[in-house]
Amino acid sequence: MTTRFAKAVIGLSLCLGCAPVALMARDAAVARKAEPWRDRTRPAAERADALVKAMTREEKLAYIHGLFPPRTATPPADMIPSAGYVPGVPRLGIPTLRESDASLGVANQVEQRKGDVATALPAGLATAATFDPALAFAGGAMAGAEARAKTFNVLLAGGVNLTRDAWNGRNFEYLGEDPLLAGTLAAAVVRGVESNHIISTVKHFALNSQETGRTILDARIGEPALRESDLLAFEIAVKDGRPGSVMCAYNKLNGDYTCENEFLLTKVLRDEWRYPGFVMSDWGAVHSTVKAANAGLDQQSGQELDKEIYFGAPFAAAMADGKISEARLDTMVRRILTGVISSGLYDNPTPATAQPIDYVAHADAAQRVAEAGIVLLKNQGGILPLAKRAQKIVLIGGHADVGVLSGGGSSQVRSVGGVPVEIPLTSGAAASFARITYHNSSPLKAIRALAPNAEVSFVDGTNPAAAAAAAKAADIAIIFATQWQTEAQDAPSLSLPDNQDALIDAVAAANPRSVVVLETGGPVLMPWIDRVPAVVQAWYPGQRGGEALARILYGEVDATGRLPISFPRTTDQLPRPRPVSPPEAKSDAASNAGSGDPTGLAAFPVDYQEGADVGYRWYAAKGSQPLFPFGYGLSYATITYRNARFVGGAKPGVTVEIVNASDRATAAVPQLYVTLPDGSPLRLAGWRREQLKPRETRTVTITADPRVLARWQGNSWQRPAGIYQLTLATDAAHAVATGKVSIAKSLALP
Ligand code: BGC
Repeated sequence: MTTRFAKAVIGLSLCLGCAPVALMARDAAVARKAEPWRDRTRPAAERADALVKAMTREEKLAYIHGLFPPRTATPPADMIPSAGYVPGVPRLGIPTLRESDASLGVANQVEQRKGDVATALPAGLATAATFDPALAFAGGAMAGAEARAKTFNVLLAGGVNLTRDAWNGRNFEYLGEDPLLAGTLAAAVVRGVESNHIISTVKHFALNSQETGRTILDARIGEPALRESDLLAFEIAVKDGRPGSVMCAYNKLNGDYTCENEFLLTKVLRDEWRYPGFVMSDWGAVHSTVKAANAGLDQQSGQELDKEIYFGAPFAAAMADGKISEARLDTMVRRILTGVISSGLYDNPTPATAQPIDYVAHADAAQRVAEAGIVLLKNQGGILPLAKRAQKIVLIGGHADVGVLSGGGSSQVRSVGGVPVEIPLTSGAAASFARITYHNSSPLKAIRALAPNAEVSFVDGTNPAAAAAAAKAADIAIIFATQWQTEAQDAPSLSLPDNQDALIDAVAAANPRSVVVLETGGPVLMPWIDRVPAVVQAWYPGQRGGEALARILYGEVDATGRLPISFPRTTDQLPRPRPVSPPEAKSDAASNAGSGDPTGLAAFPVDYQEGADVGYRWYAAKGSQPLFPFGYGLSYATITYRNARFVGGAKPGVTVEIVNASDRATAAVPQLYVTLPDGSPLRLAGWRREQLKPRETRTVTITADPRVLARWQGNSWQRPAGIYQLTLATDAAHAVATGKVSIAKSLALP
């Protein structure tokens, strides 16, 4: 009886429970039918399409152009003075887009938000030097988490322009000179950012390879060369990273501004790569309404920086004139919303107010990247790692008593801990918005903390004679040499500025145990290289750079970074020894009317005659030896390779044993290069970054990425049949083993 009663009660309660569940499910189904854009089971583009159908014409027109907050006349109450703001449509759950730069953390310099801080990652080149997609992901995930907590939902992160010129002012933001490395790491950054359900942006599409005259230069290059270099980096970043948005660039490409370039925005990005998200313009990079919209631009960003709000009233007028179709407007909005939905933003709106941030954990993430990305370039006589015993050490220059240098421009992060040194610019293209800024991460303090028995002092290096005297009195001298780089300007030369070569010479002459630490935006010339025993490339090492450097110098962690960019011996080794400059300003500024160019200068060509032979391929093509090759970096551990076995066929590659013959943990970065049957210069086809315990031996296989084995021929990718030379190497110039493999079938790649 009791049991029967109990069963009845349970049955009743189940039944009672069933009714609301069933009702709720039915309500949800009805709601989904009425509002199909909320149905998470449908593909993003389908949901976006449903939203477009529910929007009014006015709502659609408002979503295709965005404000530049610092110049917005009457800012809405919820506007953060950051890079961009596009009001949403609350009745449909369409979010307001709140955009921030974030190449190296959530940027906050342009707008100078009072008291606002963020975690500063090291330079993009440091991330690239890790050769580690997992660390690139971690950096992106950290910046994305911080951005979401600050209520941002679109990050202008993911710069993947290849380093064609060592002096390019923005190299530090990017990921080096190789398309496979840069594309793979950019994809990882994007996935990291978007793991927070916000949008990441791959930029600047494409061939924005120098800053001098960036808004008016016409980058010229043949199609196969473009496909096999810069576009390949973008293709990998876009296909593997699946960013919500792509940003077109300032420059022209083969005659058309990239933001109105049908070849780039429609033929390549849409028709071939099948990219579903949206194309936003760079800030001030729009020059037309009809041409841009019909070529494939979906959203005008930072409208106050353009000559007109091209995608505002003129857009509606062009529609009325039949020059832009309703369908085109719908497509533009659908693509924006596809990015909003596919990134997870639509279903996970950002908080309305700022949330707490775990800055300690985030700083650790920045330090991990710095430690893995610092590159040991020279270590004669094993002068490094430094011993912890009592000795006299003098640090010289680079404000090493208080901090580490960072790069300038829209990516600038004013970091947690404050800015110990800030120097405004008095001239130059970047003067209006960039200043020389240091992060509060003192190498001096970090070294003192690691070596409490050493006597560690600092001299500022402005007086070479005084620095030399201090070096002479010390056991070890460490010179911190700096080269500040910024968006909007290229380096005037590859030589260290401010007489630092003379400083290094004076110090090295006074003390043969002198170590040079370079905090630079890329390669610099090193006329003193034979006179110093050790050189460490620290890039801009981010907000924990001082601590990371100290740990590398003392061998607390092994030096495992590898160069993502070749270091020239002399400038005559380069395809272009200096930036190509615009011709003189035309007296008739109106001759430039319509370009929207703030400089008033006429357009000028930059011919990329090296084609796809960027970086190390250029050196190989010319048969010249750089000072330090792409992929190069020393470690304290002794790493050797044995029993390399190459295979051809469907999955060409190499299997090899890596031996850590030392008593310290390290990471090995074996690289696989390929020379195609046509003998064109070698290409990086794959690599591994393997963490090895002391005395560990590990067998790894590196498979060549098929995208690097193909050439662009006619209208498609063709992987030729024939004999491929595979090279296992420690860098682009040092082979460990070489094998010839045969690929029998030629193949057209998708
Ligand atoms: C830069 C972009 C940046 C934008 C917004 C432009 O000057 O080229 O990289 O995202 O400003 O700050």
